[in-house]
Amino acid sequence: MRTIIKNGTLATASEVFRGDILIEGEKIAAIGGGFDETGAEVIDAAGKYVLPGAVDVHTHMDLDVGFAWAIDDFYTGTVAAACGGTTTIVDHMAFGPKNCSLWHQVKEYHRLADGNAVIDYGFHGVFQHVTPETLEEMKEIAEKEGITSFKVYMTYDYMLQDDELYQVLKAAREAGIVIAVHCENHGVIQYLRKYYTESGCTQAKYHPLSRPSRCEAEAVNRMIHLAAMAGDAPLYIVHLSGKEGLAEVRKARAEHQKGLGVETCTQYLTLTDAMYEDPQEGLKAIMSPPLRKDADREALWGALADGTIDVVATDHCPFHFKKKKAEKQYGAEDFTKCPNGAPGVQERLMVMFSEGFMKGRISLPRLVELCCTSPCRMYGMYPRKGALLPGADADLVLIDPEKEHVFTASDIRGDSDYTCYEGMKLQGDIDLVLQRGRVIVKDHTFLGSRGDGRYLKRGKSVLAE
Ligand code: URP
Ligand code: ZN
Ligand code: ZN
Repeated sequence: MRTIIKNGTLATASEVFRGDILIEGEKIAAIGGGFDETGAEVIDAAGKYVLPGAVDVHTHMDLDVGFAWAIDDFYTGTVAAACGGTTTIVDHMAFGPKNCSLWHQVKEYHRLADGNAVIDYGFHGVFQHVTPETLEEMKEIAEKEGITSFKVYMTYDYMLQDDELYQVLKAAREAGIVIAVHCENHGVIQYLRKYYTESGCTQAKYHPLSRPSRCEAEAVNRMIHLAAMAGDAPLYIVHLSGKEGLAEVRKARAEHQKGLGVETCTQYLTLTDAMYEDPQEGLKAIMSPPLRKDADREALWGALADGTIDVVATDHCPFHFKKKKAEKQYGAEDFTKCPNGAPGVQERLMVMFSEGFMKGRISLPRLVELCCTSPCRMYGMYPRKGALLPGADADLVLIDPEKEHVFTASDIRGDSDYTCYEGMKLQGDIDLVLQRGRVIVKDHTFLGSRGDGRYLKRGKSVLAE
């Protein structure tokens, strides 16, 4: 099948230019103009921006946190992603049974995703304990499964201790694997959560107070030093939320630490802790790290613009608001019982387009870099994904910058019953989404089928070069 996307304004991570795209089968065949239209489907993109399909490298589909399951599975979550212009995800696995092999969750995630995801997908592995066996399994899994990144946590039940983090980083450095890390100081958070609940301070507004920005900064600092001690091991800090943590990253950048990647998420750029003031509504935004202050938001935008932060992802992890977060036995009476996480996979690209590019905070190439190209470089998918180049997968998103849209929960195409961006006025709207040459979203309607997504074996990250 031949398709020509005609008259569009193409946006890559480095430039914006007028041009046509010729698609043959599943791949971009050429970029330019004057293509022979005989037998081709022609899509007129006049007045539209044409971007590489967006790539979200931080989602939690089907997440099982023990006492609750995330509401989006690999089908509903990837339908939502597609409708928001995201054509590839890399999902973070949940923890498995205590002491399980690293292979356990790899197999479990294939069971959950294969035949269900509607867009292409990969997985990050996860460490929950460190032994010579699990360190060896990491290398095996990278080779056999193309899972070239593994996550470690500095808080939560299966957090790793410093000596374990160091061992993982050393082994990852030797094998050219990226270690993604959730940075928060566990001890202080545990103390503060107990302190607030025992003092009767159980409303949503105490959630951010129990996880201060300096808890993140301390853990970011520690992890950066551990990675440096491990020989500048490839390290990727997920969901950076606060200005203090950002200052630690800036310091490491100034000292030219190699192999350091940094991600923030849409919510930390566009929402604040004011959302926690309403005890019920505030539960919608219970996530870790929590939403911060205006000054943090502004600092993060600055770091996007000047290149300190590499990626904008979502940490998509929605729990049903009415049936879970706000239920009596969960968050209604105690924020510490509210499952952590919020939706965002559908909202990211349009919120970033509107709040970032249309409001003049970042250029269009920088938006493409943050949401499409750099995630693929970080996680070994470039240039197959995230690029407008001959030979790349023909994953494309067309955006109409003239259309205005007020986003509400009724726009959500996944299973979440709410959005954190309720009532946000978005300048620009998704016009069309193509995956590997096929139109999968038109007029906000998903046109693909369950199981259309393919598993992605990933290669080496730029962080490991
Ligand atoms: O609150 C969040 N972010 N839940 C998902 C797990 C994580 O920490 O990324
Ligand atoms: Zn996390
Ligand atoms: Zn996460």
